[in-house]
Parts: sequence; structure tokens; C-alpha cells
Amino acid sequence: MTQHVRIATEDRVTTVTLTRPEKKNAITQAMYGEMAEAIRAYGAGDEARAFVITGEGDYFTSGNDLQDFARGSSSDSKPPVVQFLEAVSTCEKPLIAAVNGPAIGVGLTMLLHCDLVFAAESATLSAPFVKLGLVPEAASSLLLPEAVGQAVANDIFLTGRALTADEALKFGLVSRVYTDGELQGAVDEVARLVAGSAPNAVKRTKSLVRDRHEAIAAQMQREGALFADQLASPDFAECVAAMMQKRAPVFA
Ligand code: COA
Repeated sequence: MTQHVRIATEDRVTTVTLTRPEKKNAITQAMYGEMAEAIRAYGAGDEARAFVITGEGDYFTSGNDLQDFARGSSSDSKPPVVQFLEAVSTCEKPLIAAVNGPAIGVGLTMLLHCDLVFAAESATLSAPFVKLGLVPEAASSLLLPEAVGQAVANDIFLTGRALTADEALKFGLVSRVYTDGELQGAVDEVARLVAGSAPNAVKRTKSLVRDRHEAIAAQMQREGALFADQLASPDFAECVAAMMQKRAPVFA
């Protein structure tokens, strides 16, 4: 266990909290592994009937840990990030996101696999993969255009711009927006409502609403191959160097 993920179950609700606020809750491979394990245990067991993902401090998450990215692709056939994406995209029970602040990269793309997404007013959503010389992941290249249309998806992917919570609500990426102080209480209430509902009706409703496992898995594979290729490219190295040196990147 790292000290960067807190997992607690109460009243049939499991809450996973990213607890690395000093790094804006950037997610390391170890953290992905713990989150994947928690989602798998939730999906397989009957102790909890709702699952909440949130962050401690002022960020939901600043996305994948950049140092981990810089280490390049893992030789592991199923690295923890892949296990996490598989767990979040195949879980048969409801997943709820409480987006307490900015959600960057995988912070946004994981929301596309959550069934209820509640955001604080201070939340923003962005997917600046291209700014890092990378491509979208988590089947977001399929799910985001489906959710918001190609024009808005391209604005998010190609410019890297951050949507405000109200824009995310307007585009249907978020179900409700609360003041920062109200978010936690509102999510607790809804999570308990879901956890207290007829479990099979909830599961079956989820399966009816999102019965896309094959298409999602296939898109993740296509993305994964291109992502690994980009990670090994000079473009990625230049983007990271430019970010560290606080300058604009220069491409050959
Ligand atoms: N991976 C690793 N460390 C990260 C991180 C990430 N994704 N995001 C933030 N951090 C770290 C910073 O390096 C800094 O560490 P330090 O205090 O040891 O120097 C700390 O978190 C605080 O971040 P800082 O940049 O000082 O705060 P800020 O408020 O000025 O900016 C962000 C916050 C998130 C906007 C900025 O850190 C950022 O752009 N991070 C990269 C986000 C990103 O590109 N994620 C990948 C998406 S695909």
C-alpha cells in the first residue's frame, strides 16, 4: 500500500481518495495498481454497492505522474495503468466520481467510464495529451466524441483547453455541479441512495446503458499502441523538456 490512496468502506459505499495533494494527486503506477485492485474487489464482492472516486486537496488529479511517463513504456504486458483502465471500463457495478477540482488527462478520461459524475464549481476538465506529444487513452478517442460531438472533442484534445465545470455540465460530461463546500455531502447522499437500491436492477441498468465492452477494449488497444509509440518519440521528449524548461516546444 502507498500512502497516496485511501480506501474506506462504510454503509455499503467504498470511497477511494487520491491522497497526494502535494503533487496535485498525480497518479503513479503504484496508485493505479491500488485503485485497480479496489475496483476489482468491489465488482467481485457484495460488501459495497456503490464506489466513489475523489481527490484530497484542491485537485481531483493532475493526471498520470509525469516522472512515470518519462520512464517510458513498461515491459510488463499489463502494467498497473492498463489494469486500472480495464477495471474501470469493465466494472459491472456503479462508479461515481466526485470531481473536487481540476481533472487532467486520465482525470478526465476515467470520468467517461463513471456512471455518475458530480463536480465542484472549481473543477475543470482537460485532456492535454497532444501538448505532451501523446495521444488520447482510456478509449476517450471513442467515448469523448460520442459524448460531446467531434468539434468539442477536438477542441479538448487538439488545443488541450480546460472546460469549466459549467461547460462540462452543458456538454453532458458531468451530471451535477455543486459549490465546493457542498460536493462531498451531495455525493455521500447519492452514493447511499444508489447503494440502498435494488442491486440487480442497478447492475442491469448499468449494463443496458453501457454495453460497449468490445468496442472500448479494441479502441484502448489501438490507442495503447500509438501511445507507446509516441512515448518513445522525439516529440514527447521535446514536450517534456520544454515543460521543464518553461519554454515553447520546437519540433523538427
Ligand atoms: N506528475 C508529476 N508531478 C506533478 C504533476 C504530474 N502530472 N502535476 C503536478 N505535479 C507536481 C509538480 O511537479 C509540483 O511538484 P514540486 O512541488 O515537487 O515541484 C507539484 O505537483 C505542484 O505542482 P505545481 O506545478 O507547482 O502547481 P501549479 O498549481 O503551478 O500547477 C498543474 C499545477 C497541475 C497545472 C501543473 O503542475 C501541470 O501542468 N502539471 C502537469 C499536468 C499534466 O500534463 N498531466 C498529464 C496529462 S496527460
